[in-house]
Amino acid sequence: MASTETSAHAARYPAGALAFPHRDLIGIGQLERHEILFLLDEAEQWVALNRQPTKHNDLLAGLTVINAFFENSTRTLLSFEIAGKRLGADVVNMHAAQSSVKKGETLIDTAITLNAMRADAIVIRHGSSGATQLIADKVDCPVLNAGDGQHEHPTQALLDALALRHALRARGEAAEDFTGLVIVICGDILHSRVARSNLLCLQALGATVRLCAPPALMPSGIEAMGAEVFHDFDAALDGADVAMMLRLQTERMSGQFIPSAREYHHLYGLTKTRLANARPDALVMHPGPMNRGVEIDSEVADMIDRSIITRQVEMGVAIRMAALDVLTRRGRGVEGWGDAA
Ligand code: NCD
Repeated sequence: MASTETSAHAARYPAGALAFPHRDLIGIGQLERHEILFLLDEAEQWVALNRQPTKHNDLLAGLTVINAFFENSTRTLLSFEIAGKRLGADVVNMHAAQSSVKKGETLIDTAITLNAMRADAIVIRHGSSGATQLIADKVDCPVLNAGDGQHEHPTQALLDALALRHALRARGEAAEDFTGLVIVICGDILHSRVARSNLLCLQALGATVRLCAPPALMPSGIEAMGAEVFHDFDAALDGADVAMMLRLQTERMSGQFIPSAREYHHLYGLTKTRLANARPDALVMHPGPMNRGVEIDSEVADMIDRSIITRQVEMGVAIRMAALDVLTRRGRGVEGWGDAA
């Protein structure tokens, strides 16, 4: 068993720290295909642990993980907290609303403060694209991006890939990667870091990605990233294997981008009738939070055999455990992880 695992490992990615030679996890854009597969494979052990009655491992005992969230979050913050705790770390949450940020402290001063407390990993969510990198440049420990503005949300894309892989394998498919799959991402692409990270991740794993949005919510020039662009949702869904729905990010909109939520639902909401344009076994995904009746109908979101929305949430904890483990290996002196670039 062990030797089979070792040779499978050797065929998929380089040994030791070369499997993941990054200090930080800022975006999918910085990752090679084999590094994505490495994180997904590492997460499998945590999926298994999380399904046990006792979900604990002392791998990160004695380490301090700070979750610094400058934007609201339910799933991401909770799952990073659970992930750190299940690995035995001391996890501290900093909410910007109660922090000195409200007193005018700059992001860099906040970073210097977090660094002085000798965190072993810092998880950051911030409303500005690039904020995570800015902090990473100022601190001595690994930094994990939990969503920066409209830029990237790498752990979301990784958990989506893991959830999709599990759903495909449950149907008996090998799902080594996503070659041959057609995946539609529909919604507010313009403001979505989830769309951007998923486009990069799904393409790296071989999928064809179709992006669908009203013209005002589609970033201009996105075709250059290799996506197929649609404004007609029925056409986008034609023959698709997966429909990934995104919320309208009204908090990022200045001005009126859509005529009304009702009109939007009429053209871009995923209904049962509309889903019939996709393949008969097409899967439905959503990163949450959902606006039921706007971008997705309840009868689709709750379809037991097709919707993998709750599986996405489940996989979020495992992916974040894998990311915290892998990124802290150098600091923990794990053999073979000390000398990468
Ligand atoms: C997403 C985010 O924050 O970017 N949510 C999440 O992390 N699950 C998507 C969203 O807010 O719509």
